[in-house]
Amino acid sequence: MVLRAEGLAKSFPFEDKRIHVLEDINLSLESGKSLSIRGDSGCGKTTLLNLLSRLESADRGTVKWQDFEMNASKQCASKEGVLRAHFLGVVYQAYYLIPELNVLENVLIAAKLSGAYGKEVSDRARELLSNMGMGNKERQIPGKLSGGERQRVAIARAMINSPKLILADEPTGNLDERTGGEVMELLLESCDEEKTALVLVTHNQKFAEATDETLFLKEGKLQN
Ligand SMILES: Nc1ncnc2c1ncn2[C@@H]1O[C@H](COP(=O)(O)OP(=O)(O)OP(=O)(O)O)[C@@H](O)[C@H]1O
Ligand SMILES: [Mg+2]
Repeated sequence: MVLRAEGLAKSFPFEDKRIHVLEDINLSLESGKSLSIRGDSGCGKTTLLNLLSRLESADRGTVKWQDFEMNASKQCASKEGVLRAHFLGVVYQAYYLIPELNVLENVLIAAKLSGAYGKEVSDRARELLSNMGMGNKERQIPGKLSGGERQRVAIARAMINSPKLILADEPTGNLDERTGGEVMELLLESCDEEKTALVLVTHNQKFAEATDETLFLKEGKLQN
């Protein structure tokens, strides 16, 4: 098992009360498998990914990355941050590339943050970019790339540390259907090749159905 969540709940203060976004989330994902989550806007999909990546703490519940179990209601400990750099890659709708760095440097920065330097790492970055069809744009800056190209770079960056799990939050949300399809194919293919598990949040039925398991988030719970 690469990822397990048990009894996750999350509420936010709103005016003088609380809104209960996630009530009781249970999920498990086997190594190398993919899972999609769909649900209405505002139902808590991004919130759930933030709990799974430990960027945000829950009201209660546990999150387990492989054999490492964490109390999700506690703030992420520094030890988890180190583990996260190797365990997890994240892809967002809005890419979040660093504008001042070129394509290759944007991928390499994620390796540097996990303590990896040198020729081996830059060779891997180049190979990933080439697999993403971005081999000829290594020196370009993100501002001069199309949305689809930016997301290909973001996927290469998410893959650089050979993570066990990728969390993708509407990675094709800003792309047209055809470009989105191409990017999704690249994401699914590279997860397959690298045996990386994937949690994919999407509004797109076709993309959701390309994963091993499809779930819906509704009323704070995951449903089939
Ligand atoms: N930090 C916060 N403080 C207060 N409320 C929040 C916070 N973050 C999220 N929410 C609320 O929690 C609910 C779930 O938000 P979330 O972003 O997880 O939805 P989503 O399913 O990702 O929606 P979308 O499909 O539009 O991205 C929303 O009602 C949102 O307003
Ligand atoms: Mg969201």
